[in-house]
Amino acid sequence: MSASGESLGRILTVALGLCLVCSVVVSTAAVVLKPAQQANKTLDLKRNILMAAGLLDPSLSVEEQFEQVESRVVDLDQGRFVDDVDASTFDQREAAKDPTRSRAIPGDADPAKLVRREDQALVYLVRDTEGGLDKIILPIRGYGLWSTLYGFMALESDGNTVAGLGFYEHAETPGLGGEVDNPNWKRIWPGKQVFKNDQVAIKVLKGAVPAGSDDKQWQVDGLSGATLTTKGVDNLVRYWMGDQGFKPLLENLRRGEA
Ligand SMILES: Cc1cc2nc3c(=O)[nH]c(=O)nc-3n(C[C@H](O)[C@H](O)[C@H](O)COP(=O)(O)O)c2cc1C
Repeated sequence: MSASGESLGRILTVALGLCLVCSVVVSTAAVVLKPAQQANKTLDLKRNILMAAGLLDPSLSVEEQFEQVESRVVDLDQGRFVDDVDASTFDQREAAKDPTRSRAIPGDADPAKLVRREDQALVYLVRDTEGGLDKIILPIRGYGLWSTLYGFMALESDGNTVAGLGFYEHAETPGLGGEVDNPNWKRIWPGKQVFKNDQVAIKVLKGAVPAGSDDKQWQVDGLSGATLTTKGVDNLVRYWMGDQGFKPLLENLRRGEA
């Protein structure tokens, strides 16, 4: 074989060897780091649940603070807790994709653009010192302008007064729709009311709540320059608080029948 043929062979061998080593390193790293990534994701979710309820103290451990939170699975249609599903392993997003555990939502009944709604949801309860309900934290999601926003809405024990709201995942534009994460905007939510005469009345407006509005208890300022994300948040909050969302559960809780 000529000298140039031999050196080409060596170059190819070294290149192939390098590719092989790199792919082994990358796939090993992916496998080894997966549990740590999953643990971080779970911790972040817990942080967001506590934050939505206004319970997060950044100086304390999230795990410790989360001990006061009880996870329960709910049958959405019946509005009742189910005890034969393990809340610690229940994956609501997976359930929403599974045709045996969810149903298609007709377009005209799907303002949050969910396409499918799961039969069961994972909710979080915080008890007071006597063991009564103090807060309930509900998962909410729906389409904004560019993305599905995933978050939590926390209600006080009356199942009507908002304790807080926050999104932990979305791809809206930073500075525009991304202002859903702005603490100043999130501070508007606590104290707002969801229902009026048993109907969902909470509304995120286009623009600011007018001064002197008679309905300001039910009205939330929209995000300026982000009307479409604002409309998405309005749609998803109203959907999840409504008949197809958590309204049956909240009514049962008020009657002590959940
Ligand atoms: C690059 C780019 C990103 C945008 N991102 C968002 C967004 O995340 N959310 C949103 O509602 N509007 C976004 N908009 C603006 C919308 O296109 C639309 O103009 C706006 O929602 C109208 O809001 P306004 O009536 O308050 O001006 C974006 C526009 C551009 C050009």
